[in-house]
Amino acid sequence: MTAQTSTGEQGSTRTGATMRASTIDRYGSADALTVKEVECPQCGPDEVVVAVRAASVNPYDWHNMTGTPLLMRLGGGWRTPKSSLLGLDVAGVIKSVGQNVTRFAAGDEVFGCAAGAFAEYASVKVDTLVRKPANISFEEAAAVPVAALTAVQGLRDHGRLTQGQRVLINGASGGVGTYAVQLAKHFGAEVTGVCSTKNVEMVRDLGADHVVDYKADDFTARGIEYDLILDNIGNRKISHYKRCLSPSGSYVAVGAPKDRVLGPLPHMLKALLAFKVGTRRAAVFMAQQTPSDLELFRELLDSGAMRSVIDTVYPLDEIAAAFRHLETGHARGKIIVTQ
Ligand SMILES: NC(=O)c1ccc[n+]([C@@H]2O[C@H](COP(=O)([O-])OP(=O)(O)OC[C@H]3O[C@@H](n4cnc5c(N)ncnc54)[C@H](OP(=O)(O)O)[C@@H]3O)[C@@H](O)[C@H]2O)c1
Repeated sequence: MTAQTSTGEQGSTRTGATMRASTIDRYGSADALTVKEVECPQCGPDEVVVAVRAASVNPYDWHNMTGTPLLMRLGGGWRTPKSSLLGLDVAGVIKSVGQNVTRFAAGDEVFGCAAGAFAEYASVKVDTLVRKPANISFEEAAAVPVAALTAVQGLRDHGRLTQGQRVLINGASGGVGTYAVQLAKHFGAEVTGVCSTKNVEMVRDLGADHVVDYKADDFTARGIEYDLILDNIGNRKISHYKRCLSPSGSYVAVGAPKDRVLGPLPHMLKALLAFKVGTRRAAVFMAQQTPSDLELFRELLDSGAMRSVIDTVYPLDEIAAAFRHLETGHARGKIIVTQ
């Protein structure tokens, strides 16, 4: 997911007013994060400034913080990060609007994607924002964007999911997984979620028809064939995924073990090559900030057809703890940072 938005430190007009923001001046661990006063962003003619109420933490932010895989430094700055601000998923209240903006007005409650979201304010083009439904909190709204965009695009666009198909979601209890279970049910699939013992009930509550506890059972050795595997973990051999796919089934790689230089690429390339042989197919992708998908989530949240699972909410001052929590690889739903 690439940030298509802009913030005060990334080129907007400077005003002299300041705000509190989480910043990095070098790549590193969560110890490198500092919360300090930086210049407030101003909005360009097609932008709005959002007063951030909540932001959520994604593996994407962790990659930007650590500068790994090294491959991503080609775009993000080789020795030091080009932007000192982090964060993308946002929910908040519009503070000011640019002269060409007609869709929103000051005071509107919104959620979506805004680069530099771990701050008091973020400026953003309006395309990547939608109205926050009144029935959900800012924390619940901020949890949605990256994880749910990944889930819907993985299932529907790259997995070509259709009604009645059997889908297995490996890593059903994390950020992407908790939305993927609900979205797959929404699309009419028979859903199997894979998670550890402590999350079995939660994944079932989200709507999964079947839950495999990976501590006790091996989903690739149960003799069941799936039409689609959405893989958030990438912890199995490609041949193991292949053996539990139907002859026309699809394997969609979302996440994979992180190689320091190439990230998930080795696993993904292996999958693409291995699936060249035979009738089953594989897909890999980078989620996009598609406005119509954000609009879909607004509708699903508004109607109660989709909800956010929130693990822990950290104040901005404790953002390093939020990143350390994500790093464990065992978040239950989403980790949120609030002002
Ligand atoms: N392709 C893209 O555009 C894209 C976009 C977003 C994310 N991603 C990638 O997708 C992956 C998932 O992202 P996320 O936000 O969902 O991460 P996350 O929230 O950190 O995922 C944590 C979850 O993973 C589960 N998990 C850990 N080991 C597992 C195992 N062996 N089997 C099954 N589940 C296991 C944990 O469940 P338990 O605690 O029960 O073990 C936990 O609930 C990451 O690698 C991320 O980089 C890719």
